[in-house]
Amino acid sequence: VRTQVAIVGAGPAGLFLAHLLHRQGIESVILEQRSRAEIEGTIRAGVLEHWVVDLMNDMGLGDRLMREGHFHSGITLRFGRRSHHIDMSELTGGKRVTVYAQHEVIRDLVAARLEDGGRILFGVSDVDVRDIDCAAPRVLFRQSPDGPMEELPCDFIAGCDGFHGPSRQAIPAACRREYQITYPFGWLGILAEAPPSHPELIYANHERGFALLSTRSPEVQRLYIQCDPRDDIANWSDDRIWSELHRRLEDGSGWTLTEGPVFQKGIIGMRSFVCEPMRHGRLFIAGDAAHIVPPTGAKGLNLAVADVLVLSRAMAAYYSTGSSDGLDGYCATCLARIWKAERFSWHMTTMLHRNPGESAFEQRLHLAELDHLVHSRAAMAALAENYVGLPME
Ligand code: FAD
Ligand code: DHB
Repeated sequence: VRTQVAIVGAGPAGLFLAHLLHRQGIESVILEQRSRAEIEGTIRAGVLEHWVVDLMNDMGLGDRLMREGHFHSGITLRFGRRSHHIDMSELTGGKRVTVYAQHEVIRDLVAARLEDGGRILFGVSDVDVRDIDCAAPRVLFRQSPDGPMEELPCDFIAGCDGFHGPSRQAIPAACRREYQITYPFGWLGILAEAPPSHPELIYANHERGFALLSTRSPEVQRLYIQCDPRDDIANWSDDRIWSELHRRLEDGSGWTLTEGPVFQKGIIGMRSFVCEPMRHGRLFIAGDAAHIVPPTGAKGLNLAVADVLVLSRAMAAYYSTGSSDGLDGYCATCLARIWKAERFSWHMTTMLHRNPGESAFEQRLHLAELDHLVHSRAAMAALAENYVGLPME
């Protein structure tokens, strides 16, 4: 068998790409190393930018999202024991964000793709990207760990295999440049069975470190606290987590956080990373395979979708008119948006976290920046337009 586009990875990038290509009459096959249950059960992002929700609705994939998602027109910033509301809708001409878990997006996209007769091979191993410099690239893989090596010839390969996948490494080291920051802190994230404590997300800068209150449903809440990225989750009893959350999230108003049984917890490290270029021959990398943002700006998933929207349009133009202009412009178009999201995510991260490596002077600057932000309409508007998502043409 052969296909037009071989897609490595069934994360948001790979799944959105398969749908977008299908809408243009372009065939693809997705090769995913994990099982369907695993990709549908992995807890990750939660915030969708305004245009991503519009795109899902346009693609006919928005029914459950519109029923079960939570629409947020503002966020609260909390520092110095005070709360400050930022009305993002009012500042952006009516835009908002939607809180809808990444694994729910994955479930919706997988189900719709399989219903349309799309091919997603789960549980493949030894994926190897070959001949990307030639007109006839191919992907080698096994359908099961002890099955034979199989070959998928194609016109293009889309490397949507996340930060640790093999696609980026297939670009010769001499042809790529990687830019990176590793932060000296991480996030401890929990899911708790509890009712919402607050109608909006709360981002808190506290002497003890950053904290974030988010939601998943009327019964389940998502919360994060800044911690040492090398810390062992076993050191964090539920009592210790709640006690930190109370201290970091409380303000002077008498507001309290509602607790509930914790049923999922884990620690993630934080980095900023960009690989340039995002193309080599007939291989195009997209999403976390090409770039990582620290999660504070809630940009990672959204950026993955932006990349594949650009890629799908370029491929559609290629197949319908033979023009390679879109494909040749892929890196420049994507990187212009990526570097803005990198800047925003870095800015939110440095402004809101306590960095043990920073001087007291630098910490004071972050507080001054927050204080300026919440008293300046221009500064709030700049934050809001980035947070809801910069326009996608
Ligand atoms: P991935 O989701 O990583 O998908 C890659 C896929 O490729 C995986 O399914 C993987 O199994 C597969 N794969 C890997 N190697 C191979 C191989 N060799 N062969 C075949 N398949 C392979 N982003 C936001 O926008 N908003 C948020 O609020 C947010 N919060 C986050 C919170 C946490 C705790 C974390 C960890 C991330 C968060 N992110 C957030 C980031 C977001 O989850 C990622 O940016 C997003 O998943 C990127 O999608 P992707 O498709 O590029 O990569
Ligand atoms: C969530 C994750 C984020 O990174 C963020 O900035 C806001 C919310 C979440 O998982 O709900």
